Amino acid sequence: MEKLVVTGPTPLKGEVTISGAKNAAVAILPATLLIDGVCTIENIPNISDIKISCEILEQLGSKITWNNKNSITIENSNLTTTKAPLDLTSKFRASYYIIGAMLGRMGEIEVGMPGGCKLGARPIDQHIKGFELLGANVTVEKGTIYAKAKKLKGSPIYMDIVSVGATINVMIASVLAKGTTIIDNAAKEPHIVDVANFLNTMGADIRGAGTDVIKINGVEKLHGNSTYSVVPDQIEAGTFMLAAVATRGDLIIKNCITKHLESITAKIIEVGANVEDNGDSIHVWCNKRPNKANIKTLPYPGFPTDLQPQMGVVLSLANGTSIINESIWESRFQYTDELNKMGAKITAQGKTAFFEGVKKLYGAPVYSSDLRAGAALVIAGTAANGVTEIYNLEHIDRGYENIEDKFRKIGAKIERVNE
Ligand code: EPZ
Repeated sequence: MEKLVVTGPTPLKGEVTISGAKNAAVAILPATLLIDGVCTIENIPNISDIKISCEILEQLGSKITWNNKNSITIENSNLTTTKAPLDLTSKFRASYYIIGAMLGRMGEIEVGMPGGCKLGARPIDQHIKGFELLGANVTVEKGTIYAKAKKLKGSPIYMDIVSVGATINVMIASVLAKGTTIIDNAAKEPHIVDVANFLNTMGADIRGAGTDVIKINGVEKLHGNSTYSVVPDQIEAGTFMLAAVATRGDLIIKNCITKHLESITAKIIEVGANVEDNGDSIHVWCNKRPNKANIKTLPYPGFPTDLQPQMGVVLSLANGTSIINESIWESRFQYTDELNKMGAKITAQGKTAFFEGVKKLYGAPVYSSDLRAGAALVIAGTAANGVTEIYNLEHIDRGYENIEDKFRKIGAKIERVNE
């Protein structure tokens, strides 16, 4: 079993370069299935979710060549099956994008119910509603989703809930549909804009991504033969910004889009740390104990749920009592039990948690319950006095490229150990 061993406290200092966005890349790869030809995707994060995504595509007939560790060329001229491997698709969440892409390209797909981080109920009713409005027949039996359509037809689709996954999935399915699709109450996250930009580069006609109304005029085919570079990861950038604050460090975070980081920047300034926007990099430093602050997670441009645990580490060390209200997921406070093992004083009740700030955290053995919880524990271990051992690394490896390397380069004493 692997674990990360972190010895603290260390104020993180120096420069860190952000990778491509996981949640954009895991949608762009399946979206390439719409292209009857070749395309190259660059700035792909080298993480386990991407490796599984590539394996699924290969089993559908994609030819994938790794140009280097962050660039692949995909050729999808000869798809050989409409049955996606059930064991792989149920391993991660974004496998649901195979449905939208294969319905668009082949009119048929059989796929396992998506897996992913256990954050409470994760229904996909809005995805299914969207596909059905486009004319598909969708059934779910014994953990397998069967979706079929003769030819998808554009339609107005009102999302009952603001959903990142459903917005992207329906957008992907609509690209080759006959006529116009209008997605109302769409999610606005940067990765939605990035998937739309990718598809438009390949010949799609999508307008309004990044607003709550997205209009997709169906096109006959996508031409491929282009190269696309994935947007920098907003959540990885936010993770390092919060790591700088929690460890009272001084970091320059390079290759990020600072516009995507406004809600995080506002909270970092509220807790009394400093942020300087340098265009394509952001400088964050903190030389005193953070102030308390209250947070409510919201869809973009609100404070992202995917940075809630990392912010929780900052607030567990703040001067005073802070409140976090998690409005997206039912069960995203599992990490608070682990922080309490390290000396934090957090009480979580349902979707609300109260953080009575402590002056110091202390190293302890802790378990990562999901991806962002894992990142929060790495930050906590770096800020804490003594040795922290972090287990369940498979969660962290799903979404952070070489996390220990990046932390080590900015001063953390961190090792991956195979027990
Ligand atoms: C995406 O999940 C991200 N995953 C999550 O990131 C992120 O936490 C989440 O968006 C919110 O920003 C990927 O992009 C692969 P949703 P997704 O559909 O698409 C409810 C991480 O750590 N809902 O926006 O699954 C749902 O239960 C991960 O990187 C329905 O009710 O999230 C939730 O309460 C974790 N019916 C809310 O909507 C549906 O059909 C938002 O979910 C779909 C969603």
